Amino acid sequence: MNKFMRQSLRRVDKLDCGQIQHLFTDLVDENELLAMVTSSIDAGMIICDIDHRILHVNRPMSRIMPIMRNNHGDLHCWEIIEESDIADFIKNSLKNQDTVRDREFVLDISGRTIILRISVLPLVSEGSIKGSLIYAEDVTRQKNQEAKLRRAEGLVSLSSMTAGIAHEIKNPLGSMGIYIQLMQKMLKQGGEIQVEEILSYLDIVNEEVDRLNSIVVDYLFAVKPIDSVLIKRDIHGVLKELVDLIRKEMEFDGIKIDCHVDDYLPPIQLDEKLMKQALLNLIKNAQHAMEGGGTLTINCVLKEDHIVLSIGDTGKGIPAEEREKIFEPYFTTKDTGTGLGLTVVYKIIKEHGGEIDVHSKEGQGTTFWISFPAPQEGEKLLTYDDNPEKGVIHDV
Ligand SMILES: Nc1ncnc2c1ncn2[C@@H]1O[C@H](COP(=O)(O)OP(=O)(O)O)[C@@H](O)[C@H]1O
Ligand SMILES: [Mg+2]
Repeated sequence: MNKFMRQSLRRVDKLDCGQIQHLFTDLVDENELLAMVTSSIDAGMIICDIDHRILHVNRPMSRIMPIMRNNHGDLHCWEIIEESDIADFIKNSLKNQDTVRDREFVLDISGRTIILRISVLPLVSEGSIKGSLIYAEDVTRQKNQEAKLRRAEGLVSLSSMTAGIAHEIKNPLGSMGIYIQLMQKMLKQGGEIQVEEILSYLDIVNEEVDRLNSIVVDYLFAVKPIDSVLIKRDIHGVLKELVDLIRKEMEFDGIKIDCHVDDYLPPIQLDEKLMKQALLNLIKNAQHAMEGGGTLTINCVLKEDHIVLSIGDTGKGIPAEEREKIFEPYFTTKDTGTGLGLTVVYKIIKEHGGEIDVHSKEGQGTTFWISFPAPQEGEKLLTYDDNPEKGVIHDV
């Protein structure tokens, strides 16, 4: 409401009939404008007072999620929401006075899966909380688009992996061919059969068959679509379990673990098993790089709207010319390496919507940086404002 209207209302007993009519018309116009704006945006909104009772529900809300459409009367805002998970979430957030942004819910509505992103925000005027805003967006299309992009990225790596496997298979096949020819030659020549020699050739052929088998098994693991089950989880617990798991082995290798995790980190969508596998792959590489011992540093902090996790070592580092290639399938500098460890890491991080980067200095060490999007917890509040030039609701 603008200043002029507020002042007029204060001295309403002094106004004549025409002036009161004018005031009412202005109020109705302003109300209609607010309703028009809230029903034109592509998101559902419930505005409630300080006691969480409904003041206004915009029209898109009933399109976005199932709500009871009848008279909202004196109801609490969660009482009109049919989906119990969402209703409980809103009720708890409001009761605990939490500002929650972008919490995602997967709903099954008449056989259609939809993903909703819901925020619970305080409404502030003149420095104090006057009510709350429940903001709901349908992000199903956006999420599907992201999944498609991830799959497209998977296809690119699939083609480079196919080239890699063809190369890998060539060597064992070539060696098998040579030993089979040698045995054929011996058998064709006739005479006394050198059983010992043939058995030793067959041993080699068997070894090559095993090698081919492990190449194919590793390949299939790296290319098959990941069956991830992403559940909102606290990364704190995951890192603690991981550190407990590796502590003994690291101690044995003379590696000190330096782990710092921010006390408060918002939960993120995680597949715990896959995430542990990715982090273990990075830790194993760090361990291999620090043959004479060193320090393994694990940090996890909240930076703006991202959780940034880093795994660093004080090992031999990666030469600049190799840094580009380390995520490529089959790239390895180790005699017994598969070159698939980081390919798998990359795939798992992407599956979690994250990014991975590496910084390394030869002779000094390497750090892998992983960042995941996290729900924002900043104090960006919505406020009512009395200044007519600024509009009715806006970001501060
Ligand atoms: N922390 C690290 N320090 C030094 N080199 C690394 C590190 N992590 C990865 N590398 C390099 O990247 C290569 C590929 O790693 P990876 O995909 O895990 O395969 P693998 O461990 O089987 O060689 C390694 O062979 C190594 O040369
Ligand atoms: Mg490895």
